Amino acid sequence: MCGIVGYIGHDNATPILLNGLKRLEYRGYDSAGLAIRQKDGSIKATRRVGKVANLAAALTTEPEDSGLGISHTRWATHGGVTEPNTHPHASWNKKIFLVHNGVIENYQQLKTSLLAKGVTFENETDSEVLSNLIAYNLEQQSEEISVKSVNKAIRTSLASVEGTYGLAILCSDLPDSLFGARKGSPLILGVGKNEMMLASDASAIRARTREVVYLDDNQIVTLNHDNFNITTFEETEVVPEISTISWKDEDANLGDFEHYMLKEIHDQPSALENAFRGRLDMEEGISKFGGLNLSRQAIRHIDRITIVACGTAWHAGLVGEYLIEKYARIPVEVEYASEFRYRNAPMDKNTLVIVISQSGETIDTLEAQREAQRKGYHVIGIINNVGSTIARENDGGIYQHSGPEIGVASTKAFTSQLLILSMLSIYFGRTRDLSYADGCKMVDAIKELPNLIKQTLELSDSIKAIAKKFAHYHDFLFLGRLEMFPIALEGALKLKEISYIHAEGYPSAEMKHGPIALISEDCPSIVIVPDDETLKKNLSSVQEVKARKGKVIIITDSHDIPSSLADELIIVPKAHNCVRPILMTIPLQLISYYIAVELGKDVDKPRNLAKSVTVE
Ligand code: F6R
Repeated sequence: MCGIVGYIGHDNATPILLNGLKRLEYRGYDSAGLAIRQKDGSIKATRRVGKVANLAAALTTEPEDSGLGISHTRWATHGGVTEPNTHPHASWNKKIFLVHNGVIENYQQLKTSLLAKGVTFENETDSEVLSNLIAYNLEQQSEEISVKSVNKAIRTSLASVEGTYGLAILCSDLPDSLFGARKGSPLILGVGKNEMMLASDASAIRARTREVVYLDDNQIVTLNHDNFNITTFEETEVVPEISTISWKDEDANLGDFEHYMLKEIHDQPSALENAFRGRLDMEEGISKFGGLNLSRQAIRHIDRITIVACGTAWHAGLVGEYLIEKYARIPVEVEYASEFRYRNAPMDKNTLVIVISQSGETIDTLEAQREAQRKGYHVIGIINNVGSTIARENDGGIYQHSGPEIGVASTKAFTSQLLILSMLSIYFGRTRDLSYADGCKMVDAIKELPNLIKQTLELSDSIKAIAKKFAHYHDFLFLGRLEMFPIALEGALKLKEISYIHAEGYPSAEMKHGPIALISEDCPSIVIVPDDETLKKNLSSVQEVKARKGKVIIITDSHDIPSSLADELIIVPKAHNCVRPILMTIPLQLISYYIAVELGKDVDKPRNLAKSVTVE
């Protein structure tokens, strides 16, 4: 987590950095700060607790600066949310200023050793160790301070550091240089006209340039306003590959919506169309993907699929398990990425590993991917963020093309992951034993999906009214069977995340094995009731809740459920089972959103959360 931005060029650095930080706020918003080289050559650091807006307010009367600076928005790991713990961190002798994204695991040991050498510290963070270590190693060199000597000090220092970092570094003696280094945390170089930038992701750079270089682990970059040089930690020159960012600016704009979350819920018809565009073959009743790097023969040989992901993406994986097992008849396991890496699960020789990640930077998922690759498994990714570390390191994959997702609570990225898993189940199924007729029905259903989502979104006003009625409850149960069970989990997670209401997801029938004890007039249940072979059983669960005075909201695509059975009935359009989980998700997103708004919560930046979790 945490976002970093650095700028070197001819324009004022302050507004450019503030704008970049605002774009990165989804990565953390506990506190924010920047260090700017002033016209008189001094470096001035400003830090504020709270959101970037607080920092911006503190800078309103800033004079012109010299076009060089670094900045940071923090998601606290080591040390409380205080101004001294806010980045940038300056070395004790004010020679080195840096911003850090990542975790230094051996910071205590490094700190003890520096303290013994007389170096002083001002805060509780692991990051301050880095500024002091680099400054200390610089001081130990008997040469004059130069780009070369700072580079050497960074290199020497990082050799003794264990952990992860994306860094942007300034030296007070070098007015025309900015340094960056990366290991385990993302760092992108923006190449502009007579200006360069460093940032945790492309959204912070896009307003200035679309030309970027994705740095790899163990690389150091040295920048001035019109040039840059990348080397590995072993001092080998790197030939940079410049990529062009394809997102349009308006994708990241709020437009007429009050919150990004609401905008992104309403983006879903087009986001999902982007996910299937060019990937459906109506003639053959099959989906197709460009970058899987898997031959049809290899697909036939897959014995098992292991899906690895975190949070909402893990819920998508659980739906994928049902879909792939049902349509492609391949056994699927779904693992939390953080567990997968450490538990050394036995896997079949012909296991395919699928990682799912919106950001492509979640460290647990990245490390799980690396562990699977280390063991020789073919890993494919379902990733939204183009050029992200997971996408660059895997053996093949499918981009979601959902556009930037800025609201911390994932919405359109989740439904697009569901759609891609559904298309993958068709592709694998048709390559194995899904019939032509069934493939055609599924492909048709996917083409129809954007329209059905639009119709579902038309329920917004009635869902808003329901949300208002239910906003004062402190506990909720979410119930669903089969592929609707993960949708229930996702509904509960959305509500927890943005409204801080306690919510739990359960398979409908499991409710009677324990959670039923929670049911009372104070604990409503949201029950997903698809019009399929489970309908009657699901309605029995509803009756069990009602018998205990529990209020019930039913989300269904059946028109035959008597309205007397539920306190509220939300009817979505009918669709093929392969896309039905997507339609059932949308009312849940809207319920959570409107409850959080009713409670006055900060929907796009819920407390304690960050969009991209880059610490283990
Ligand atoms: C919840 C949410 C998180 C993420 C999780 C994985 O709304 O967004 O649970 O799904 O942190 O993130 P990615 O998909 O970026 O790997």
